[in-house]
Amino acid sequence: MDSILVTGNGALSGQIPIAGAKNACLTLMPAAILSDDPLTLTNAPRLSDIKTMTTLLESLGLEVASLQNGKVLAMSGRGANNLRADYDIVRKMRASILVLGPLLARHGRAEVSLPGGCAIGARPVDLHQRAMEALGAELELRDGYLHASAPNGLKGGIIDFPIVSVGATENALMAATLAKGTTEIRNAAREPEIVDLAHCLRAMGAQISGEGTSTITIQGVDSLGGATHPVVTDRIELGTYMLAPAITGGEVELLGGRRDLLAAFCDKLDEAGVDVTQTNTGLKVKRRSDHIKAVNVTTEPFPGFPTDLQAQMMAMLCTADGESVLEETIFENRFMHAPELNRMGAKIDVQGGTAKVTGVTRLKGAPVMATDLRASVSLILAGLAADGDTKVARVYHLDRGYEKVVTKLRGVGALIERIKGD
Ligand code: EPZ
Repeated sequence: MDSILVTGNGALSGQIPIAGAKNACLTLMPAAILSDDPLTLTNAPRLSDIKTMTTLLESLGLEVASLQNGKVLAMSGRGANNLRADYDIVRKMRASILVLGPLLARHGRAEVSLPGGCAIGARPVDLHQRAMEALGAELELRDGYLHASAPNGLKGGIIDFPIVSVGATENALMAATLAKGTTEIRNAAREPEIVDLAHCLRAMGAQISGEGTSTITIQGVDSLGGATHPVVTDRIELGTYMLAPAITGGEVELLGGRRDLLAAFCDKLDEAGVDVTQTNTGLKVKRRSDHIKAVNVTTEPFPGFPTDLQAQMMAMLCTADGESVLEETIFENRFMHAPELNRMGAKIDVQGGTAKVTGVTRLKGAPVMATDLRASVSLILAGLAADGDTKVARVYHLDRGYEKVVTKLRGVGALIERIKGD
């Protein structure tokens, strides 16, 4: 397993290009199932999760051509001849559940393995099931697979989510496009990735209104056509790299960055003493002084502070002036980066869903372990400003969601290299 060695090297400066959003691409790809005409995605990120989704769609019989070194994905749902999403693939990536809605809507049947838990939480799929049942499907859990059927097709209905779920909203939205009649999704997720999916589905001929608000209305159509759609900028990669100059000092411009994708996060950076300026090429980030102020953070569904940036924010707050309190309200076990940061001299006390961070002057480099995607990059961020070397092991977690980390950070002056493992 490869590891990444990063050495504290002072202020960063320069530009970092931001890729297309992993979490948009992972729901846009299954949308290809909904049509026999080609769906082409541009600005696709080059990530192992995208490769896993490609393998899954191909196992269902779809054609997926990866062009221009993976930046373009040309897919066609025409060949779909297998309606079973196998455990061996699904267990590698929870987003596999996003083939459920499209398979049911287009083919009237689906067998999708339950994904199983992951490091950050149990990650149930009951809300996905509830959404499909609200559209008239029958679902049964058997041998670890969700067996779903809608022999007479899906019917429009009211889907009222008790809690906000990004994935369940995406499954419901995709399924409703081909359901007979009108569907209303209440307490829908409002993330930019949902808005991006709605734009793509509309380009394919879907009739959707209200995306980005808590209520989305879909008028089912008989069939969908093809489209070419650019994947929206990855706001989580964007926020991750915005924290690099915030932690080390210096000034970095994130190319393609848009403040509207991360307003709550930018407000928190401002409160901590970090300036974020929108330019016509992206977002410029610069600390106002040598010190970061302690701030309190509570993760929430969009437009609140994103849970996917909690670990990275904690890395910055380890050397802030004073005590910060982070509340993780979305997932039940998303502080596994804390013990690793403590190995670097941080002072973090975790009690259930709350982490208290008491700022220290400097972190010290140390060998640490990546435990999940966002934890792994928070350790790299901490290493950028630590004294000495930090070696982050198990960076396969990183490859799931960040393309070319070493290249991008070296480009702004970081001392960082990837070490081939056994
Ligand atoms: C998406 O996961 C993202 N993944 C996650 O990003 C992100 O952290 C999460 O949304 C929240 O923003 C993708 O888009 C591929 P949820 P998802 O359904 O859809 C509970 C990353 O780092 N829940 O909004 O799985 C669930 O347990 C990943 O890129 C149910 O109870 O998240 C959680 O507590 C990590 N029943 C809460 O809802 C369900 O049926 C929010 O989960 C579904 C979810």
